[in-house]
Amino acid sequence: MQYDLTTLKQAVPMLLAWFREHKRDLPWRHDRTFYTALVAELMLQQTRVEAVKEKYVAFLEKFPTEKELALASEDEVMKAWEGLGYYTRARNLKKAAETLFAEGTPRTWVGVNALAGVGNYTAGALCSIALGLKEPAVDGNVLRILTRFFADESVADDAAKKKYTELLRAVYPDETADFCEGLMELGAIVCLPNGTPLCETCPWRTLCRAHLRGEETSYPVRAEKKERRVEHLNVYVLKCGDRYALKKREKGLLKGLWEFPNEAAPQPAAGIRGNLLAQKSATHVFTHVEWHMDGFLIETKTRDPAYTWATAEEIEASFAIPSAFKAFKAWLE
Ligand code: ADE
Repeated sequence: MQYDLTTLKQAVPMLLAWFREHKRDLPWRHDRTFYTALVAELMLQQTRVEAVKEKYVAFLEKFPTEKELALASEDEVMKAWEGLGYYTRARNLKKAAETLFAEGTPRTWVGVNALAGVGNYTAGALCSIALGLKEPAVDGNVLRILTRFFADESVADDAAKKKYTELLRAVYPDETADFCEGLMELGAIVCLPNGTPLCETCPWRTLCRAHLRGEETSYPVRAEKKERRVEHLNVYVLKCGDRYALKKREKGLLKGLWEFPNEAAPQPAAGIRGNLLAQKSATHVFTHVEWHMDGFLIETKTRDPAYTWATAEEIEASFAIPSAFKAFKAWLE
């Protein structure tokens, strides 16, 4: 594999010029501080820009600086994160805010990387975007762009990320924020995955080896995927008067969030007596697990004290329920 650094160097100003003209107006691109960039980057891990936009603005209204976030309760933070999924990020963000509040903003890649929830990619992004440091951020999107650019057939894995981090470091311009976000932007609106790259609008179309060969969709070459585990659950939405039963997840996936009582299926609905009002099925796909759920809306005569009982309004205002239960949350009235 030939990595032609001269061509990559030539590509840098082309990307910067393109980015300045075509970048999207996104809320985290205004009034940026290290803290606001941190909030944006953690939200954008594993979540689409469109889904993040609104949540980001509301989150910063509630927690405008690291101080408010550091001093908030975990329940408040989870509520503000509701709907974004991958809630470990919310807990990490709070921890990172506590560190910023206690120790100030880090000034080096090592210091940034030590913050909770900040891996190599996010550390590169924060250094480039908020600190002006020449530290590349290579995720799957950047890898897709660069394996196409070089028509690189090596498997797009962690070793490839490391290799491209070094290549980018060798050509990193002084405009670190624009370069870093320019690559992200190119991956988001031009160098699209699967069969849909918009090569005719790409600033690198005259240089990209895969495009010149008409083979852009052959890259990146992927490692084989592991299959997702399937779990079957019974979910009980228990209603007594105008209140619904909730319990807090104490461990594992979605820890710290509130959920409707549920159990692995098939099992008899042990201890739950009442009037069945409605029933439906739903599926939710996580990264490594799929939940196949059968949901039951049940009216009960008494309020089992093992649960927290709340009205639909209270739930809406202050209980973070994972999106996985969305289909059943729709029963609340
Ligand atoms: N994805 C991850 N970080 C991003 C950013 N700063 N702008 C747009 N998309 C992103």
